[in-house]
Amino acid sequence: SFEPPSLDTPEKFIQCFYNYPNITNTNSNVLYTQTNSSYSSVLNATIQNLRFLNISSKPQVIVTPVDVSHIQATIMCSQRHGLQIRTRSGGHDYEGLSYVAEVPFVIIDLINLREITVDVENQTAWVQSGAQLGELYYRIYEKSKTLGFPAGVCYSVGIGGHISGGGYGFLMRKYGLAADNIVDAQIVDVNGNLLDRQAMGEDLFWAIRGGGGASFGVIVAWKIKLVPVPSTVTIFNVARTLEENATEIIQKWQVVASKLDERIYIRMDMEKVHSREYGKTIQVNFVSMFLGGVEELVPLMQKSLPELGLDRKDCTETSWIGSAVFLNSPWFGNISLEAPEVLLNRTQIYSGHYKAKSDYVRQPISIDGLRGLWRFLYDDEVERSQVQFAPYGGRMYEISESELPFAHRSGYIFHIHYVTNWETTGDEAAQRHKNWTRRVYKYMEPYVSNSPRAAYVNYRDLDIGVNNKGYTSYDQASIWGLKYFGNNFRRLATVKTRVDPYNFFTNEQSIPTLLEEE
Ligand code: FDA
Repeated sequence: SFEPPSLDTPEKFIQCFYNYPNITNTNSNVLYTQTNSSYSSVLNATIQNLRFLNISSKPQVIVTPVDVSHIQATIMCSQRHGLQIRTRSGGHDYEGLSYVAEVPFVIIDLINLREITVDVENQTAWVQSGAQLGELYYRIYEKSKTLGFPAGVCYSVGIGGHISGGGYGFLMRKYGLAADNIVDAQIVDVNGNLLDRQAMGEDLFWAIRGGGGASFGVIVAWKIKLVPVPSTVTIFNVARTLEENATEIIQKWQVVASKLDERIYIRMDMEKVHSREYGKTIQVNFVSMFLGGVEELVPLMQKSLPELGLDRKDCTETSWIGSAVFLNSPWFGNISLEAPEVLLNRTQIYSGHYKAKSDYVRQPISIDGLRGLWRFLYDDEVERSQVQFAPYGGRMYEISESELPFAHRSGYIFHIHYVTNWETTGDEAAQRHKNWTRRVYKYMEPYVSNSPRAAYVNYRDLDIGVNNKGYTSYDQASIWGLKYFGNNFRRLATVKTRVDPYNFFTNEQSIPTLLEEE
């Protein structure tokens, strides 16, 4: 039964927690209330987006489980005492949904549940949700130089949120998403039961691989399938400004990037720069990884994207783990590719405020369309802005759109990530930067997918629609749900209705439950 929260809720919650049957490891310090001296440092440790650092709606209690029973107790005691739950793994949610709520709530912060066990023989690994991508890559590398995992780029991203929303990176064209490479999982459901794949059933196992974990329970760990990588891969980051023919290269990239050999992944990062030669201009960075050696890559590129003028000297041969370090080098500075220990870094990747949005593209964007985009990037009203084009194709086209909740498969040639970052604190700066993303998003409407205009749930964007504070109908939630999940949204709602019928695991963009008539 649900009681309205009262001022003594934290105490009642704590009492309930310690009285939970089967609770173990109660000697460890795992509960933090607002009067605890470590409360703020625990809360702020993985607030990735500083937009949410000083907001007033803070959790009544933070639980940092060291044992599954702590998750079970938190789920049961939160329900008993009218508290909601926000689950946080790496804290990278763009809208802070893992640690912000406008209702009395508890954070389950999985920072201590980060064990990684790599099984080279069977090419699998168990990874707990609180581990970071960099740690996972490093632990695989410790055991094997020819196995990898297709997931995101930034080392500090949390496994828990990342995989439950899809998770893509430079192996996506060869192996698909992180969520496409999961063989088992452990979740604690609304009744406090710990379930593996067999116990949760195929529907729930489907839902948590791309449908966002937060709506269904607390995912404790994932069993992932490791993928073969060659001992030598080749990387490059080649910059071209508009004066250096960037527009023509982009035009060609839009046509070929999704059709190239699936071992090549070339991302385009565009932003304004001040160059000595050309003054204020737009620069495009072509950032790439190729699963093979330079001798094979250069002729391949000369044949398919000669406009880039890729030269041998632009390329570096390294190992797969070296490529993971290289792709993170904007945050580490100029470091050796042979020092993968940097991937174990637990400090946050970026400390600033940001707002981002995503889009999916089916047809190449015209030159006029691109020129309009440059105008937004030139805009001095924002401190920093960047637009990224990430290519699809390869394995992504082989997987059907209903295989997992992540629906954006064949037909999309690339996706777009728009982001603006700022250092200035205060509402005015935040509003100004948020408005920039909204204007660029509106401008791009004719050039991107429509009906629905697709978006990526891991690039969370509350502008595209939110749930009501109370009940939200399926139709209303469809406004944002169809964008993230396309035709998979209804199945997600069906699974949700079965596993969490009273909608305990709820947030601004949680999957709604269905009423009988819906
Ligand atoms: P966080 O802990 O904030 O969780 C995100 C969401 O998942 C929240 O709703 C949370 O409640 C829920 N959740 C988290 N853990 C859960 C669990 N154990 N059980 C149930 N629900 C859980 N994406 C990408 O595909 N490729 C990339 O290269 C990058 N790179 C990147 C860089 C940077 C700097 C940022 C900030 C973000 C990215 N992302 C990304 C996006 C990233 O994949 C996305 O933000 C993930 O949801 C982050 O997962 P965390 O666990 O870190 O987030």
